[in-house]
Amino acid sequence: MSITKVVVAGGGVLGTQIALMNAYYGFDTTIWLRSEASVGRTQPKVERYSSLMIADLEKAKALVGSPMGAYVYPRGLIRDWKSATAESIDALIAAAKKNFAEKLHLETDMAKALAGADLIIESMSEDPKAKIGVYTAMKDLIPADAILCTNSSTMLPSTFAEYTGCPERYLSLHFANTIWKNNTAEVMGHPGTAKEPYDQVVAYAAQIGMVPLQLHKEQPGYILNSMLVPFLDAAEKLWANEVADVETIDLTWRLATGAPVGPFQILDIVGLETAYNISLMKPEAKDPNSITSKLICMLKEKIDRGETGVNAGKGFYDYSK
Ligand SMILES: NC(=O)c1ccc[n+]([C@@H]2O[C@H](COP(=O)([O-])OP(=O)(O)OC[C@H]3O[C@@H](n4cnc5c(N)ncnc54)[C@H](O)[C@@H]3O)[C@@H](O)[C@H]2O)c1
Repeated sequence: MSITKVVVAGGGVLGTQIALMNAYYGFDTTIWLRSEASVGRTQPKVERYSSLMIADLEKAKALVGSPMGAYVYPRGLIRDWKSATAESIDALIAAAKKNFAEKLHLETDMAKALAGADLIIESMSEDPKAKIGVYTAMKDLIPADAILCTNSSTMLPSTFAEYTGCPERYLSLHFANTIWKNNTAEVMGHPGTAKEPYDQVVAYAAQIGMVPLQLHKEQPGYILNSMLVPFLDAAEKLWANEVADVETIDLTWRLATGAPVGPFQILDIVGLETAYNISLMKPEAKDPNSITSKLICMLKEKIDRGETGVNAGKGFYDYSK
């Protein structure tokens, strides 16, 4: 079965980005939304993210031929950077504008949205009850051969498989925020996922400009967050424990590994609220004498001052200049 019609359930930050990537690559794309109010919230996101994608393509024209270009071009939008020219990028921009206008639809009627779908990507709030509710409502409307994926960052597909009505065609397809630049697609089945839909999703992910990263078994946090969360946690604890300052910790990492950024520069990109919420969920957070509790207070002070990261202009570093 080839994938031509894609439905994204949920029009939030990620759902909108996923839908736009599908439209960009010419897939017939529908975002299913639960209400007209949701349409009103999603439409501005479609406009915002499509403008950001076009703006990044515009910026990429100036990067053609520069040594830095290969590191910062929008990897999900330009398949072959080596042969890209200002003219070829102009052609991509023209095609993107046309596809965004013609290929992307918003639909509140679930039956209409799912009719003829080949692939459904659930990207709703990270709330198990909401996800179960929508899977249950979709169950009898999902076409017989369609594949169902979840973009959940923290929940395993085995948690939901029984509610989908198609456990053998259900798996995780996990994208990263700013999908058009950070083009990872972690593909993870649950024990009941069949091989064919898994392989189809791997092939499809590459068709929408992603680099498919295959997991051979279920893993909370997938590959990326299994590494990133403990790494950032270790850096944060060095800071909270007053072992070294933020700049020194970052410098150590950059010099010793050759990495372009250190953990606190990454935290500024992720956002301090996310770091704060992750720390709050730890069992040690209940012990007021733990280093985690101290870290939570230090993060909270910065958040209260509005220093939440790159998007706010200040986090661990100042981006206002
Ligand atoms: N934000 C990220 O950086 C990121 C990255 C990768 C994966 N994810 C995952 O993507 C999914 C969505 O995250 P997001 O950041 O886009 O969230 P979001 O809060 O921006 O959007 C959630 C969407 O779900 C909809 N929704 C909530 N409850 C619903 C219900 N009962 N019925 C129908 N629609 C409902 C909301 O209207 C909204 O459109 C989550 O599973 C999250 O773990 C997020």
